[in-house]
Parts: sequence; C-alpha cells; structure tokens
Amino acid sequence: MEETRRTQVAIIGAGPSGLLLGQLLHKHGIDHVILESRSADYVLGRVRAGVLEQPTIAALREAGVGDRAEREGLRMNGFDLRWDEESCHIDFGRIGKHATVYGQTRVTRDLMDARRACGGITLYEAGDVRPHDIESQRPYVTYRHEGRECRLDCDFIAGCDGFHGVSRQSIPKNVLREYALTFPFGWLALLADVPPVSEEVAWINHAEGFLMCSLRSKTRSRYYVQVPSTEDIRQWDADRFWALYRSRLPRDLAEKLVTGPALEMSIAPLRSYVCTTMRHGRLFLVGDAAHIVPPTGAKGLNLAVGDAKELADGLLRHYRDRDTADLDGYCDRALARIWKAVRFSWWMTNLTHKMTDNPFARQMQLAEFEYTRGSEAAQIAIAENFCGLD
Ligand code: FAD
Ligand code: PHB
Repeated sequence: MEETRRTQVAIIGAGPSGLLLGQLLHKHGIDHVILESRSADYVLGRVRAGVLEQPTIAALREAGVGDRAEREGLRMNGFDLRWDEESCHIDFGRIGKHATVYGQTRVTRDLMDARRACGGITLYEAGDVRPHDIESQRPYVTYRHEGRECRLDCDFIAGCDGFHGVSRQSIPKNVLREYALTFPFGWLALLADVPPVSEEVAWINHAEGFLMCSLRSKTRSRYYVQVPSTEDIRQWDADRFWALYRSRLPRDLAEKLVTGPALEMSIAPLRSYVCTTMRHGRLFLVGDAAHIVPPTGAKGLNLAVGDAKELADGLLRHYRDRDTADLDGYCDRALARIWKAVRFSWWMTNLTHKMTDNPFARQMQLAEFEYTRGSEAAQIAIAENFCGLD
C-alpha cells in the first residue's frame, strides 16, 4: 500500500446521503473521509430530485445547510392530480404542512460548499473502492487515488454509494435480503429554461402514459413523460420530447406550453427495491444503496436524508456515550419509515401510469381517481404520505 490513513467513519459516495452524513458527523466532531468514484462536476451535473419534505429541510438545517433551501426553494402547498382534462387538487393546507421544490443539484452544491468551508476531506475520482473485513472490529477500505494504491482504516463504513455502488455488493449473498419490482417503463426527463405551464406541480394520467409538469423556478421547467424501459436516450432530442409531451398534455396546459432547448435530458428506470440488510457487521447502507423507489412519490432523496440523519445520531451516541443502542436499532427504525414510502411511491405509480394494455386496469385507475376527487379523507391520505409521515 502506498498510502494508509485512519479515520473513524469511512463514507463511500458523495451524493446527497454521503455529503449530508459527512456534515452531520462534522458537527458532532466525528472524524470521517468521503471516497467518491466520480468528479465533483459529474456529481453536480446529475439533475434528479426536486421535492423536499419538511423533515429533510430540518436535517439540512441541522447540518448547517438548510438556509438556502428555505429561502430560495419554492413553497409547495399542494399539487394537481389530473385525469386528462379533469383535475383533483391535493391541498397540503388541510394537514398544516407543505413541501419545498428545491433541486437536488442545489442541495448537493450547498453541501459541497459547506464541506469545503469546514475543510472536510472528499477524495473525488477514487478508483476501485472496496470495503474489507466488515465483519471484524477493524474494517478498512482500499482505493486508488491519483495513481496511488491507498488504504483507509476505520471503525465503521457508511455505504452511501447509490443503487449500483460497491457497498451492498460486499455483503455476503447468504445474508442479503432483497425485495424488488421493476416496472416495464421509465421517465424521460427534460430540464429547460422556459416558464412552467403551471406553478402547481401536476401528475397527469393520460391513456398513452404518464406525464408530470414540475419546475425549478418561474423561468425553469422540469418535465417528465413515461416511455418504455427499452428507450435509448441517444434516440431523443428536445424536438422529439416536446412533440410527445405536447401530445399528452391536457388542453389547458398545452395552450401554455413554451418549448426551448434542453439543458439536460435523461431516462430514469422505474423500480421499487429494498435491501433489508441495511447493516452487516460494521458496514451500514444509507439511501439509494439500500432502497430505490419510483420517483412518482418524490421520496428517494427524502429517504436518503432520513437514513443519514439516523446513522449520524447512532454514531454520535456510540462515540459520545459509548452506547450502541441506536446503531443496533438503525435497520428497524429506518425500515419502518422506508416501507411506508415504498408503498406510497408504488401506489402513486400504479394510479398515474399506463400499467398494461388491459382496459380493466385503466377503469380501476379511473375509479380510484373519481373516489379521490370526491373524498376529503382520500385526499388527506395522499397529502400526509406526500409531505412525509411523522
Ligand atoms: P446517489 O445520489 O446515487 O449518490 C451515490 C454516490 O455514490 C454517487 O455520487 C456515485 O457516483 C457514488 N458511487 C457509486 N459507486 C461508487 C463506488 N464504487 N465508489 C465510490 N463512490 C461511488 N427523490 C426525492 O426525494 N424527491 C424527488 O422529487 C425525486 N425525484 C427524482 C426524479 C428522478 C428523475 C430521479 C432519477 C430520482 C429522483 N429522486 C427524488 C431520488 C433521488 O434522486 C435519489 O434517491 C438520491 O439521489 C439518493 O441519494 P444517495 O446519495 O443515496 O445516492
Ligand atoms: C421534480 O421536480 O423533479 C420532481 C417532482 C416530483 C416528483 C419527482 C420529481 O415526484
């Protein structure tokens, strides 16, 4: 080994969960190093999430980075659930809550700025990152950085490296418990500097497939449309996107559609996945490394933040009080929260997407939409789940 370091917590991945965990540990005075396989610019370029729950903003504040989200984020007091031309407004005011539209890139940038300001170590473009001896008291991580073979000795490893990361893969297959459902479609996404068709985010069920109108500001729109999972992003350009999008938009919104060049386009697959082995020995899985939800419920980043907060609290208790109770309860507490969000995201996907060609399925969706539109209780249930369950 050409270089060996020691830290208390090795964090793999500098997405929102790894960066937030890092800031919370910094606040608690717990030494840590973040290893990220990509460059900082690449991480910042991933557009993804938009909606933050109130507890997510509170966790960001605790880490010293919630101010901008609170100041510059768009307050979301509800959203429109649409069935073609018909609309059902979900009003968060009924439960005294709200959400905030604030893009994941901005969350990431705020966390990176805070990290730079406090001098935290993040090693970007770390190659071949591998956890070792996770079942022992002395785990370590090996990686390649700037041409050197390196080793990081630590007390704990936090696997914050997303769905395709190495952390989950290093848990032995015979102990790994997984639950998965892959949907046969994905979301084609476009970000553009055009005024949004609506200030209210809209989830739209169209006979040919789902679409969503979201935004980042009064001049920046974020739009999504359902496409088969076989679609290749290289076959898409902005013109083709706009033509498909316009063809599915309800008339009142289509009239307001302003098109323009794409700042970003991507396709995200839709899946539900939970690995219930969120801890093995001294390795903890955090965020997308342990669970994926279809983006329909706007839950993924919020769950990742919840995990990071819980793990940070558990590590604080371990180091400050020599008490492992919170670390030992990490899986159970996290999973109680996660399964409810998995259910809601799956349910919202089933309600709003073209699931099959069977007309019966669409009739069931219509019945559910009509029931929701006529029932305050049903609307409150959606608002409660969307804003985050206590
Ligand atoms: P990631 O963001 O995936 O970060 C993992 C990091 O680990 C990456 O930087 C990666 O490069 C790094 N890494 C991977 N492998 C390695 C390795 N071997 N070594 C070192 N580093 C590694 N969530 C919401 O809450 N609200 C929303 O509105 C919402 N909308 C979404 C819309 C779309 C289209 C998509 C795709 C997702 C959306 N999400 C939403 C989900 C959200 O983006 C994710 O849940 C969130 O990014 C998870 O953060 P994470 O840090 O756990 O994982
Ligand atoms: C977004 O604005 O990107 C967004 C909003 C709601 C979702 C998913 C994504 O459910």
